[in-house]
Amino acid sequence: MSFNKQTIRDAKLKGKTVLLRADYNVPIRGDGQIAGDYRLVQSIPTIQYLLKQGCKVVIISHMGRPKDKYDKHLSLKPVAKHLQKLLGQPVTFVDECIGPVAEKAVQQMKPKEVLMLENLRFHPEEEANDKHFSEALARLGDVFVQDGFGVVHRAHASTEGVTHYLPSVSGLLLEKEVVTLEAAISNPKRPLMAIVGGVKIADKIEFLERFIAIADFLVVGGAMANTFLLAKGVDVGSSIVVPEDVPLAKKIMEMARQKAAKQRFVFYLPQDGVVATSLDPKAKTRIVDWDTHMIADIENYPKRPPREASKIKSNELLYDIGPFSGAFIAGGMQLAETVIWNGAMGVTEVSPLGGLGPVGPFAHCTELIVESMLGQYGHRPFSIVGGGDTVSYVEGRGLTDSFNHVSTGGGASLELMSGKKLPGVEALKNKSRLKKAK
Ligand code: 3PG
Repeated sequence: MSFNKQTIRDAKLKGKTVLLRADYNVPIRGDGQIAGDYRLVQSIPTIQYLLKQGCKVVIISHMGRPKDKYDKHLSLKPVAKHLQKLLGQPVTFVDECIGPVAEKAVQQMKPKEVLMLENLRFHPEEEANDKHFSEALARLGDVFVQDGFGVVHRAHASTEGVTHYLPSVSGLLLEKEVVTLEAAISNPKRPLMAIVGGVKIADKIEFLERFIAIADFLVVGGAMANTFLLAKGVDVGSSIVVPEDVPLAKKIMEMARQKAAKQRFVFYLPQDGVVATSLDPKAKTRIVDWDTHMIADIENYPKRPPREASKIKSNELLYDIGPFSGAFIAGGMQLAETVIWNGAMGVTEVSPLGGLGPVGPFAHCTELIVESMLGQYGHRPFSIVGGGDTVSYVEGRGLTDSFNHVSTGGGASLELMSGKKLPGVEALKNKSRLKKAK
């Protein structure tokens, strides 16, 4: 798959001051330390490439959603400190991102130095894609390099506006993300399986529609599945549901039914689940199989299974898919050649009790799927992981290097795979315009 945008490899950058847009929107712990540095690590090859060209590298990024004013918890200062460790060279931090203070700091830079500016979103003009703010950013460099894949689905001053004032090319991370994700949806090795979690169907409707069209096997899990189950008439007790998404769930199920009537296609919703009355890891958990009646039959044979074995009680919530569903998905995956995974199957944030390994009580089926994807049952499909929470889980498990591609983008990877144009990519120079670049 070719990437039709100019990259830093195409541009003449020797000795230039490069304004580098990164996405360093990373979790920060209470003690000010970075909780997950995957996005930083992935940005290093671009920075090193620029430094080798003798560039002065001025990094801009956002962090969180600070409501347009300074918020010390959303400062990029700890990120600059961490980046310094990863790069093995000083990263100067300036607590402004435009204006005289930032401009003076840039003027004082020497070749091969790195400067990081404060959170762009402390200025409302960033998200408003304000012309004057974009111009002010453009005054900080000779060339703009976009490498913040996670934010290119936003048309903000630092993703779109600034490209009107500086020659603008892609960094190596952005190129890698777009090439890998586009190839996986336009020309995947089949069978192609997609596994989707999350909460709101409305947030992923385009993704679901796209994957009904292109996938061979589509699985919906996590809290999103609850709304589908509700639409199918399953009593989900007190589980999280989005009632206004029920019509969307019905529409998706009908699309899936029509496709399956014409060709081999599996649309899978969980048939059993792990329920509890709260997320407290000490809360009593049980498995309910509203569809398969497998576990209940065996436990009670030859008696009839108790009614509650296949019924979620009114005060219970679904927190994970059940072992039957997990095994079904993990087994299906063994026939897949490409797996795209976006969204955990259960609540993976709850810690395990009593040193019972690294997986909490509602993460077992997510873990089963991870094991299958990574080849523990024999076959190892080409694996792509995307989505903020999914990537945080994989990162927390120390598995980012184990998959073929772990995307640094949440919304951006969803939009790209849904077939949408990304404003921050569209705004970059096309390869055919290479000669015009300064
Ligand atoms: C992300 O984490 O998905 C990106 O940094 C974009 O953040 P946003 O959703 O606040 O624009």
